[in-house]
Parts: sequence; C-alpha cells; structure tokens
Amino acid sequence: MARYIEQDEQHDGIDRRGFLKCMAWAGTGMVWAAGAGGLLSACSLPAATKVQGFNFVQVSDSHIGFSAEGVNTDVTKTLQQVVDRVNALPQRPSLVLHTGDLTHLSKPDQFDTVQQIMGTIKTDGIFYVPGEHDVIGDNGKAFRQRFAPKALGKGYYSMDTMGVHFIGLSNVGVEDQFGILGLDQLDWLGKDLKAVHHDTPVVVFAHVPMYAVYPPWGWTTRDSAQALALLKPFSSVTVLNGHIHQVLQQVEGNVNFHIANSTSFPQHRPGDGSPGAYTLPAGQLLQTLGYRTIGVIPGHAELAVADSTLATA
Ligand SMILES: [Fe+2]
Ligand SMILES: [Fe+2]
Repeated sequence: MARYIEQDEQHDGIDRRGFLKCMAWAGTGMVWAAGAGGLLSACSLPAATKVQGFNFVQVSDSHIGFSAEGVNTDVTKTLQQVVDRVNALPQRPSLVLHTGDLTHLSKPDQFDTVQQIMGTIKTDGIFYVPGEHDVIGDNGKAFRQRFAPKALGKGYYSMDTMGVHFIGLSNVGVEDQFGILGLDQLDWLGKDLKAVHHDTPVVVFAHVPMYAVYPPWGWTTRDSAQALALLKPFSSVTVLNGHIHQVLQQVEGNVNFHIANSTSFPQHRPGDGSPGAYTLPAGQLLQTLGYRTIGVIPGHAELAVADSTLATA
C-alpha cells in the first residue's frame, strides 16, 4: 500500500526516507497520486508518464449474504470461482478493481467474507468503491474503514500506475442519496484532474452507471454530466461501472463506458420487467456471472476490454 509522507526534514513536502520506501514499493507496480485536497503522497508520478502495457481486472457486485432459490444460493462460492479464474489468468493482473455491492446487507461477517476471498487474489493492489448495499445503516463508514481507508468524503480517491490515472468515485450514500456524486466530489474531481496531462489515459470506476442506462430504475448517475465535462479534454477515458449485473457498453464522445457482470446474480435487461434478481432456467447461472480483464496497450487510446463468464471454458 502507499507510503505517505512520514518525515519532511527540509520542509519541502518531500519525505526522502519515505520516498525511498515508496520507490521500492512502487517497483511492484502501484503508485498513489497526489490528489488535490488530500491523499498527498511522496510517490506521485509526473503527469505525462509514459504508459506501460499491463492488465488489470474488474470484479463487481459480489453481494455476499444474498441467497435465493432458483437464482443463487451460494454467492460465496461463485465469488470464489471468479477469484480462482482470475488467479489462473495467463498474465497476473497488476491490480483489481471491485466496483461495489461487495455485500448484500453491509453486515460485518459479510465484509469479513469478501475481504478474506478477495485477499487471495494474486495482484499488487485491490481497490474498492461502495455500492448501495455496502452503505446500509452507517452511510458507508464501515465500508470505508475497511476497504478504502485513504479515501476522501464518501469514498473517492485517485492513483497513478504505469502511466494511467485511476479515479474511484462514490455515487451511493452521497448527501444521503443514490445515483449522485455531489458537489464536494465534483469539486475534488476538478482539482484532481488539473494535475493530469490530457494524454494520460484516465480510468474512472464507480458503482452506479455513469450514463443514462435506464433512469426509471435508477440506472443512472444524475449529475454525471458534470463529471464527464471535466473529463472531456482527455484523449482516453474509460468508465467502469457495476450495479446492473450485466455487460453493457456505450461510447459517448471521448468516453468508453463499460458495465460489468456480477459474481452473484443477473438482472433483467433495462426496462424489461422489473429490476432485481430473477429466477433462471436450471444450469444457466454461470453464464451470467463473471469478471472483466482490461489491457492497457501503449500507443492505443482505447483499452482492451474482455468479459469472461464462469461458463467460459
Ligand atoms: Fe448489485
Ligand atoms: Fe447496486
């Protein structure tokens, strides 16, 4: 995990001892960025750092604690199966993103189970943003303490790794509402992006879709247009979301949106019936569950996104 400024002997904001630790640690592939308004790190990369090729993984909506006959009665097992698949990938992912709804009811034992299983993934770092099922009862305090201790506000932060700027956003439990980023977070995002070169690939990850998938079901982030306006000057922007438990893709201007399958249960297509889990024909569950690998290829603005299901050989 990141090394923050421990001692500032020359009062210049640089901790030389911490920086050496940081560089040793950064050799494993992960460096946190300086984010305006917080998360200052001695490990900040120059804004226009050359992109290096690497892969990372997105996992979403594990809903530990959910159980329904005819849908999925063992979501712990299906999360474990996804983790086993990730650990068997031919190329070890440099990092893993979990895009929320780790648990179904925000219970401590459910968080324990997620932490235990996700902790077995062979990678250099695992980063989380909350879903609405992770903020029940305490507005996400327990989630943040355990899964995003360095995050600001309701769970937002940024980091740089190998020339890519990653931004984790929270669009649940903000201003006690769902599907909203809020003014504080948008203000922070604007300041954060000011330090990033426009040719740096940007990856945004958040739980609720950041384009209008189906607003009548709440499948949208109402103030995402303001975030997307801040991202407009960047040549490569990839937005990764979860929440709707199915793969969807959309391109709007310079932004590629990718919504992921869950590891727990499917939901209907937008506007088809009602949202929520539905009963599946026998044997079809694994076709609807999976994970995503994302390849960063130097010289390519578009990231290589590949979705795999548990039914894939
Ligand atoms: Fe979910
Ligand atoms: Fe959700």
